[in-house]
Amino acid sequence: MVKNVQVLSEPLENRKGTLYFDGVSTVELAETYDTPLYVVSENRIRSNYQRLYSALAHNYEKVKVYYAAKANSNMSVLKILEKEGAGLDAVSPGEVFMALTTGFTPDRILFTGTSVRNDELKFLVDSKVTVNVDSLSQLDRLLKLTAPKILSVRVNPEIGAGHHDHCITAGKNTKFGLWEDDALKAYAAAKRAGVERFGIHMHVGSGILEVEPFLLALDKLLGTAEKVHDKLGINFEFVDMGGGLGVPYKPEEKPLDLTVFSEKVLSLFKSKVAEYGLGEPFFCVEPGRYLVSDACVLLTAVNTVKMTPYRKFVGVDAGFNTLVRPTMYGSYHHILAANRLNAKEQETYDVVGPICESGDALAKDRRLPKIEEGDLLAVLNAGAYGFAMSSQYNARPRAAEVLVRNGKCVLVREREQLDDLVAGQRMAE
Ligand SMILES: Cc1ncc(COP(=O)(O)O)c(C=O)c1O
Repeated sequence: MVKNVQVLSEPLENRKGTLYFDGVSTVELAETYDTPLYVVSENRIRSNYQRLYSALAHNYEKVKVYYAAKANSNMSVLKILEKEGAGLDAVSPGEVFMALTTGFTPDRILFTGTSVRNDELKFLVDSKVTVNVDSLSQLDRLLKLTAPKILSVRVNPEIGAGHHDHCITAGKNTKFGLWEDDALKAYAAAKRAGVERFGIHMHVGSGILEVEPFLLALDKLLGTAEKVHDKLGINFEFVDMGGGLGVPYKPEEKPLDLTVFSEKVLSLFKSKVAEYGLGEPFFCVEPGRYLVSDACVLLTAVNTVKMTPYRKFVGVDAGFNTLVRPTMYGSYHHILAANRLNAKEQETYDVVGPICESGDALAKDRRLPKIEEGDLLAVLNAGAYGFAMSSQYNARPRAAEVLVRNGKCVLVREREQLDDLVAGQRMAE
């Protein structure tokens, strides 16, 4: 009986009970590259980008999509999106460096960091990327270095949303962005210092599957833009709505309807921009998760099957060192038995990793076929905040990454070795 068929949409495929990803057998990938292994589909990244870009461009001519590199900063992923024509949103000098190294020109890079050091500001100025300032103090220190050609302010629109408290980045309790009064002060100071070109920015949170929070926040952001325009005579080259577009993780969750999203967001945008006389700014978004999440699976092998009087455990070789989202956010990731897709789901397991902490579980109470040692599990939707948030905790080398496309594969990040655990360390005398 085929039980898992309902969740198998491109690039996932069931070929005679074996999971294929973008045309490549996951079982063969695990044999060739070992596990845990992140497998990234080039086709899916490209189609995610094209779907989003065309949905937005359908409703407004001047659209830019900046990829939020924090979600997955593998250089091959960055390169694919660079070739697609995306810009890049960076939150650290390291991400700026990665973007420049991958071929993004500075004019295609936005920096949206928080708690930024002076030497980091200097690096950003030298790199000639556009900065979204996150505080008056940051602006002050930036203006001491230079009056940038173009400057943007990250505004807190007082409306946040997201799949978990940790991921809500606007509203009362967040450290991010400037409240409206301070945003006005920031634009005034930048203008006094000689800045001539401006943008305005927000990012309200991550993993949002409804359109409403975006509309409320964008409405507020454009209200702030109007005040800045009226009081200071500033025109905006771009309005950046941030990222946060959610993806379904559970089989029963519905994807964000992009047609509706684009239609509603851009009709609000166009009507307010016209009403407030804001000209024709670019409309920008900064998705991370939306572009890469479902373009990747994490393959992990079963080491142990263990029964206690209370629970059945499947012990795999990926723990929260490899994928932290379930432990950190309580996130759900769908799991398939990659080498026995056609087997009936007849057991309920906790899928746990090798880390010495009880919080180390990829899934709890999960229906799966009867699992045996040596089976291969595929953790779906692992492309966003997966490898990027992995660590060497418990002195475990980080996983390898493979890029796949139309039945072909290439290693894009080597598996770390034991030597990597001591790299950079020095023995004290
Ligand atoms: C400033 C900024 N932009 C964009 C994103 C991307 O968010 P998401 O991956 O939910 O699209 C983030 C992530 O938190 C962010 O901090």
